[in-house]
Amino acid sequence: MLNQKQQDADELVKAARNAAKAAYCPYSNYPVGAALRLRDGRIVTGCNIENASYGLCNCAERTAIFKAVSEGGRAFTALAVCGGKERPAYPCGACRQVIAEFCPSDMPVYIAPLEGGDIAATTVAELLPLTFSL
Ligand code: THU
Repeated sequence: MLNQKQQDADELVKAARNAAKAAYCPYSNYPVGAALRLRDGRIVTGCNIENASYGLCNCAERTAIFKAVSEGGRAFTALAVCGGKERPAYPCGACRQVIAEFCPSDMPVYIAPLEGGDIAATTVAELLPLTFSL
């Protein structure tokens, strides 16, 4: 990765790992954190929030995106998702669709475990090719 991109990835991964500390996941015991970079430089974070009625669980990525959009954010430049130990968490199908709704197809998405390990870089289009849109 280029130096500035690497710096952005490192900062977002740090923010996502920190956000995972707030995860409410008593059912899965699987904390996930997400950090979204806004074009103005701000970072909005999210964590997974579970419910005894399992279908109501909300993933970290959607928490971050919904927080940002609800505060007027619309222009996003990068996203980091951190979860899992040896095998990092990649966004689920529902989150990929929500990411594709709000983020440009060439936007970088950084994936890393909760601690240590490498940061993998992918894009919105790679996560959800042939995206449905109206
Ligand atoms: N989860 C996320 O927050 N993001 C993902 O990309 C995958 C899964 C959460 C949902 C649930 O709280 C827990 O991880 C286990 O599935």
